[in-house]
Amino acid sequence: MATLINKLAQFKHLTLDEWEELITQKDSINREELYELSEKTRRRYYGNKIFLRGLIEFSNFCKNNCYYCGIRRSNYNVKRYRLSKDEILECCHLGYKLGYRTFVLQSGEDFVYNTDLISDIVSSIKSFYPDCAITLSLGERDKEDYQAWFDSGADRYLLRHETAYFSHYKKLHPKEMSLENRMQCLVNLKKIGYQVGVGFMVGSPYQSPKTLASDMAFIERFNPHMVGIGPFIPHKDTPFRDKTAGSLNDTLFFLSLIRLTIPKVLLPATTALGTIHPLGRELGIKVGANVLMPNLSPKDVRKDYLLYDNKICTGDEAAECINCLSQRMKNINYEIVSERGDSLVNTPNYLSQNFNVKS
Ligand code: 5AD
Ligand code: FES
Repeated sequence: MATLINKLAQFKHLTLDEWEELITQKDSINREELYELSEKTRRRYYGNKIFLRGLIEFSNFCKNNCYYCGIRRSNYNVKRYRLSKDEILECCHLGYKLGYRTFVLQSGEDFVYNTDLISDIVSSIKSFYPDCAITLSLGERDKEDYQAWFDSGADRYLLRHETAYFSHYKKLHPKEMSLENRMQCLVNLKKIGYQVGVGFMVGSPYQSPKTLASDMAFIERFNPHMVGIGPFIPHKDTPFRDKTAGSLNDTLFFLSLIRLTIPKVLLPATTALGTIHPLGRELGIKVGANVLMPNLSPKDVRKDYLLYDNKICTGDEAAECINCLSQRMKNINYEIVSERGDSLVNTPNYLSQNFNVKS
């Protein structure tokens, strides 16, 4: 087992079988050594700097019905909201004053925000703050939409692949959604020139060493700029309400593997990780994460953007969140910086590849 970790530490390619072997035996791996390696790798490229992204959850309407997600369309207990362009700009104004240099616009799949409306919002933010990066996270859209938003000034796009294993994807999503389409969106985003983020939930229902091996092999080949992973946490109003949550230790394990697989990747310690353990985000940073994504949404809508139960920070003001996190990072000798924090990952050879992992 140590030999597979050594291979990873030398930034060598692992086969699908090797990934599966490594993941199957995860509990016999020396975690201290592994985490020292992944922390050192992060430090080599990013030092002790932590990048901030101000997350603006601007709409919780969603046309999809993912079995795990609290804002799925069939959840009638959700109070739905949409922020106007001006409300979104207000969040950016506050965020800029607080030191944010990246704004993440996230929503459910809400087509009321059509091509032109998103383009208009993006170009307005850019005209106020040309020194800031804009990340979009609006789900699956046409290539033309992605292109228009990129042309308006969007820099990055987050679209978690959720699982790279076909039959697993089917178990997490209703039949109108497909892994093929998700992969096509990711390829389109990269071709257009976005910095692209993929990711998955650790401990999602029906996940196995096989599906996780596919995730890692996919991540290695796709070579994304960002990878968002966090534990699955059940939401009481979803079909997965009785499923078991992902664990802290497994999430830390995969954060470290991802850091070693793509040394320069931008890797957030997610809010979900902070939700399952009071020091989850600190521990995530310590094993190789280098990004935090505090909430910048207006306080009165935060409690309505609940993808999972017990989400933290839903009652805090944006300024409180940033102060709390700055102090938390200082406590563990890391420093939050007021920078765009672009990815150092360079991905020249993605076009010739086929990312579908057959299963
Ligand atoms: N637990 C943890 N993460 C979740 N997400 C959605 N629902 C849950 C949940 N119940 C994640 C998905 C999605 C991202 C925005 O949030 O991976 O892509
Ligand atoms: Fe909205 Fe999955 S429920 S994208």
